[in-house]
Amino acid sequence: MQKSLPEIYQQSASAGADQAHCLPFAVYHDAEIFALEVAQLFHNDWVFACAEAKLSEPGDYFALDIAGEPVALLRGRDGELRGLSNICRHRGTSLLDDGFGRIEKNIVCPYHAWTYGDNGDLKGVPFDSDNQVDKDRHCLPHFAVACWQGLVFINLAEKPRPFSERVKGLDDYLALFDLSRYRHGYHAEAEHWNANWKLALENGMESYHLFKVHKETLEPMTPSKQAYYVAGSSEWTLTGGAMKDNRSKVVKWLSGSYPEAYNHYLLLSLPPSLVMVITYEGVDWIQVLPDGPEQCRVIPGGLTEKPVASFDSPEFQFTASFLAEDQAICERVQRGMHATKGQGGKLVEMEQILVDFRHYLANRLFASPPAPFSQTEAAQLFLK
Ligand code: FES
Ligand SMILES: [Fe+2]
Repeated sequence: MQKSLPEIYQQSASAGADQAHCLPFAVYHDAEIFALEVAQLFHNDWVFACAEAKLSEPGDYFALDIAGEPVALLRGRDGELRGLSNICRHRGTSLLDDGFGRIEKNIVCPYHAWTYGDNGDLKGVPFDSDNQVDKDRHCLPHFAVACWQGLVFINLAEKPRPFSERVKGLDDYLALFDLSRYRHGYHAEAEHWNANWKLALENGMESYHLFKVHKETLEPMTPSKQAYYVAGSSEWTLTGGAMKDNRSKVVKWLSGSYPEAYNHYLLLSLPPSLVMVITYEGVDWIQVLPDGPEQCRVIPGGLTEKPVASFDSPEFQFTASFLAEDQAICERVQRGMHATKGQGGKLVEMEQILVDFRHYLANRLFASPPAPFSQTEAAQLFLK
């Protein structure tokens, strides 16, 4: 009997490194697979939202769409950061505009002005003097929120797995870089790519393509051949790489001796939505959110020591140019995903990080056993 697409997907995603191939092309455009991924990953696992530094004052909020679900992260006047549904309980109008902002005191619906407190409680209903609306039954649903290393994550599941399980063991590798030094966050406008979210995320993870796609941008600084696997499992993966000609730059900033790790970058992959690069200089990420089986949003952002001007400023020109190269190649791959005669090939050793990602997919989508943790000798460079 012919196997169904979910069966083929599970089998492919569960393969070990020796056997790992490109996933079946159809999982990069099939509507049912997409619906399964939204339900099991984006609406049921920890999804990266933004830098915590951007939500430091009471009333600060960040509203975003997570695979069709409008949510808002809001710092209450009591200091608590909450994840709230961003949809009015009256007739479903979205409440806060997408992006960052600050509310004065309450959330007021732009349609009939139902008014919610900064904790999501319904406080006022205009023209309801006989109290037909039971306010206690019309509060905004809450979602779990976790803050880690200056980053905010949200989970839409009713009973989320503890966030600590997602990042277990990771802090040890990041300690040398001391991310608490980066007290400011930047968050660029979303770019809309005509590519399945997995293509954008996989492309962000692997350093195999740098020498070809980013020949004149990233490759001269962070060559493909100097990238290596550090540690990982189906929960997260770290790769690293030597930064060419970085030594003189770092020496300028630091007096005396400094760890060799400062001449390297660490790349963290935390599916389903975050790939970030950590260096002594700062943190830069791409956040990937799906907008349909063949569309996604890619949002560049990061953490810095000093406040940064807008993403349009010249200092981000370089990031914008290599992301344009990534967009072009991912959209080109997407066009190939409808092919029926050819199929994808074997992954090479440099793509071990993609094997971990596949194991994450197999575990969350099909309850395949999680992949065990593994670590290479390169890990010693980063462990204090
Ligand atoms: S939809 Fe929000 S008040 Fe009517
Ligand atoms: Fe790239």
